[in-house]
Amino acid sequence: MAVIFGKTSWLAFNLGMLVGFFTIFLLLNNITNSFRTEAPLAIRSWEKNKHMALLQKFPHSHQPGSSKVSNDLSQKIRILCWIMTGPNNLNTKAIHLKYSWTRHCNVVLFMSSTSNDSFPTIGLGTKEGRDQLYWKTIRAFQYVHKNYVDQADWFFKADDDTYVVVENLRWMLSNYTSDQPLYFGKRFKPFAKQGYMSGGAGYVLSKEALNRFVEGFRTGVCKHTTSVEDLALGQCMEKMGVIAGDSRDTEKRETFHPFPPESHLTGHFDKSFWYWSYCFYPIVEGPQCCSDLAISFHYVDPTLMHMLEYYVYHLRPYGYNYRYQPELPEAAGRLPVHNKKKTTTEVTAMDKNKTSSQ
Ligand SMILES: *[C@@H]1O[C@H](CO)[C@@H](O)[C@H](O)[C@H]1NC(C)=O
Ligand SMILES: *[C@@H]1O[C@H](CO)[C@@H](O)[C@H](O)[C@H]1NC(C)=O
Ligand SMILES: *[C@@H]1O[C@H](CO)[C@@H](O)[C@H](O)[C@H]1NC(C)=O
Repeated sequence: MAVIFGKTSWLAFNLGMLVGFFTIFLLLNNITNSFRTEAPLAIRSWEKNKHMALLQKFPHSHQPGSSKVSNDLSQKIRILCWIMTGPNNLNTKAIHLKYSWTRHCNVVLFMSSTSNDSFPTIGLGTKEGRDQLYWKTIRAFQYVHKNYVDQADWFFKADDDTYVVVENLRWMLSNYTSDQPLYFGKRFKPFAKQGYMSGGAGYVLSKEALNRFVEGFRTGVCKHTTSVEDLALGQCMEKMGVIAGDSRDTEKRETFHPFPPESHLTGHFDKSFWYWSYCFYPIVEGPQCCSDLAISFHYVDPTLMHMLEYYVYHLRPYGYNYRYQPELPEAAGRLPVHNKKKTTTEVTAMDKNKTSSQ
């Protein structure tokens, strides 16, 4: 009896172990797999566009009259945002920008090699691929200059994995006028006297800078010399007398960031990392890395994009006064006000023929 009982419990014990092992194996396998290969369920279904349109139904913008300062700025500092994307990225990346931060731009255009009327994207008639990046940038700015130059004061380029707080971009720009030959972004220092702006963090050209960029290519002063888009654009800017601006806040904290928030806030950049020799201004790691009025982060995946949109625009501590409250620069008071235009996704490639009636 005792022997049989012993045997049974031994068997049960082993069976239990086996089941346990198997369960844990399945669980771990599931977890690591989902981290490695697939976006969370919500994003996967959003990628299929099932729920994306719902985002449009939620009241995204703010209570009427409650955002007076940012509303006023949006009529003084009109920003056209154009997004560098491609046909394969529309449903996986670009769509998340379409339904998040780009809604805060005065005009938004998605630039691709081929046009897609349903997204919509503008076809630049280029090929796809990394080596095409500068051609796409040149064509995009030429297109914007030809069709939209009067509809905005500043012209912002971002990648389809860049997250931008457009209101903070307007605050930084409110210290300047768009007839000054200026451009701003995350400033790198090598290969050009005044440095150049990193591509991934996005960069913004004043109207005068845009005019000069297009003029540079018309006259042949600027040429397609390399596919390294951000450096090549910086070299053209320098030749055309466009000044590389300082976009740091009044406490000298950076506003444009070439990595996601976690890298700057909690990461540590290895001593041998190229970044150390590229940054124009001293690198600050940790909590002081980033302005409270940060403008952009790069390598933001779709999940983080929607999280940031929630953290930036909706989540807030009840009754709390923010620690950093810089004044609006004096110059902002003198900027002309433009009538409120329809914004963002309402403006599409189809609006091309309306520019003349403007
Ligand atoms: C246009 O974009 C949509 C995504 O919005 C995509 O589903 C569709 O296949 C694209 N059409 C073409 C012709 O590429
Ligand atoms: C405003 O621009 C001037 C240069 O024209 C600069 O010295 C100053 O630091 C800027 N202020 C802010 C808040 O960026
Ligand atoms: C051009 O604009 C007019 C009215 O503004 C509109 O009726 C027409 O359909 C537009 N054409 C295109 C190609 O969008």
